[in-house]
Amino acid sequence: MIDVEKCRITHYPAHVLSERARPVQQIDDGIRRLVEKMTDIMLEHKGIGLAAPQVGVPLRLFIISLDGNRENVRVYINPTITPGGEFDSREEGCLSVPGVYTKMRRHSTCKVAATDLSGDDISEQAEGLHARVLQHESDHIDGITIVNRMGQAARIAHRKQLKKLTEEHKVRTE
Ligand code: NI
Repeated sequence: MIDVEKCRITHYPAHVLSERARPVQQIDDGIRRLVEKMTDIMLEHKGIGLAAPQVGVPLRLFIISLDGNRENVRVYINPTITPGGEFDSREEGCLSVPGVYTKMRRHSTCKVAATDLSGDDISEQAEGLHARVLQHESDHIDGITIVNRMGQAARIAHRKQLKKLTEEHKVRTE
């Protein structure tokens, strides 16, 4: 059972952000409550996407709202992303890596197949920001963050902040 009251944003380098998340077996009240809690947390932090591992829950589920509005939140359970198109490089941030904004190369389009909160199959063809956010969140459920995808130059440019996050994590887990 997921205790949603304990859900908080997890920061790099928390272990839950680096492991491959497990598939959701059943869409029950626990999952519905988790999605509600994730929505509150995402909107509170002004994010446009949030994956379950980012609130400490290692499940293959994420939500997005491209304009940051509650009524436009979309839920993707056990998603499969198929990237396509050209590459596109844009600045990206992540609620789990606060203080770091860095250029990320992503596919300009992607297809997503998933299950929604009602248990219905969804299939979307995405481009632009939509495609970018889907690829970012899909990375999270595979245990990948922007820190893993950063090049050497970006790692050096952000070394102070990454060191600070690592030290804060040490204090929390000691
Ligand atoms: Ni993120």
